[in-house]
Amino acid sequence: MDKKPFVIMVASQKGGVGKTTVAINLAAALIYQDYKVLLVDTDVDSFSIMEHLGIQGVGNGFKEIVTGKAEIENSLFVYQNIDLAIILGSPADESMTFKPEQLVKFYSQLVKQPYDFIILDTKPGMFPSAIARYLNDVIIVSTPDSPSIASSAKLAAYCEKLKVSRRLVINRSGYSKFEMSKEDTEKMFGDVAFVSIPEDKIVPESLSKQKPVYLIDRGSPFAAAIDQIARVYGLKAGDTDNSSVKAKRRGFFEKIAWWGAKDGNK
Ligand SMILES: Nc1ncnc2c1ncn2[C@@H]1O[C@H](COP(=O)(O)OP(=O)(O)O)[C@@H](O)[C@H]1O
Ligand SMILES: [Mg+2]
Repeated sequence: MDKKPFVIMVASQKGGVGKTTVAINLAAALIYQDYKVLLVDTDVDSFSIMEHLGIQGVGNGFKEIVTGKAEIENSLFVYQNIDLAIILGSPADESMTFKPEQLVKFYSQLVKQPYDFIILDTKPGMFPSAIARYLNDVIIVSTPDSPSIASSAKLAAYCEKLKVSRRLVINRSGYSKFEMSKEDTEKMFGDVAFVSIPEDKIVPESLSKQKPVYLIDRGSPFAAAIDQIARVYGLKAGDTDNSSVKAKRRGFFEKIAWWGAKDGNK
C-alpha cells in the first residue's frame, strides 16, 4: 500500500502548556486504535520525550538526521510497551537552528516512512515556513489563560497564512474558576475548532512513573479527552487530502468541546 502518513504537529507559542504530554498520549491513543505511529522529538533545545517515558540516552536523534550525520531508518527507537517508534532528541552543544534545505530534506524523507501517523513534538514558537507543506494538521496547545490564548491566536493566524489546517486544544481546563470562558476563546479564535482537556492529577502521576497516561489509567478524564481527539484523527488515517471530512470533524470538535471543564478538579 502506498499511502502517505498523516502528519500532526503539536505546537504552542508558550512553553510548558502540555505539548509533549499531548503528543505522547495522542500517539498512544492512535496505537490503541491499531495505527502505526512515529513520534518525533523536534524540540532540540529541551527535548523531553525521553524524560517523559524513562528512556535512557541513545545514539542518534533528530539533530543528527537533520544535519545529515544519520539516516532515519537507523535512528528509530522503539518504545516496546506500546510498539511506538520514536525519533528522540539528542544533546546539542549550543542552541540549534537548521537551514530550510536541511529541514526540507528531512521532512521529505520522513513522509516516506511506513506509518499511518507521524506526530511532531515541538519547541515553543512559530515553526519554519519551509516545512508547512509537510504538515496535515497543527494542534495548537494552550492553557486557558488569556496570555496563552492570545499568543495561540497568533500561531493560528500564522498557520492560516501558510494555509496549514490547525485546531486548538485548551489543556488543563477546569483548574481555575478564573479561566477564560468558551465565549471569549471563541471570540479570539474565530472559526478555529477547539476541544478542551481537563486538569488531571493522573498527568503528574504518569510523569513520575515515566509512562503514558494511557498505560496507567485509560479511564481517566485526561485519557478520555485524548481518546476523543484520537478518534477524530482515526477517521483520517491514510487520507492526506483532508478536505472531505473537514466539515464533519469541526462539528465533532464542537460537540465535545469543554466537556472537560465540567469534570475537572475545581
Ligand atoms: N492536563 C494536565 N493536567 C495536569 N498536569 C498537566 C496536564 N498537561 C500537562 N501537565 C503538566 O504540565 C507540565 C508541562 O507539560 P509538558 O507536556 O512537558 O509541556 P510542554 O511540552 O508544552 O513544555 C508537566 O509537568 C505536565 O505534567
Ligand atoms: Mg515539551
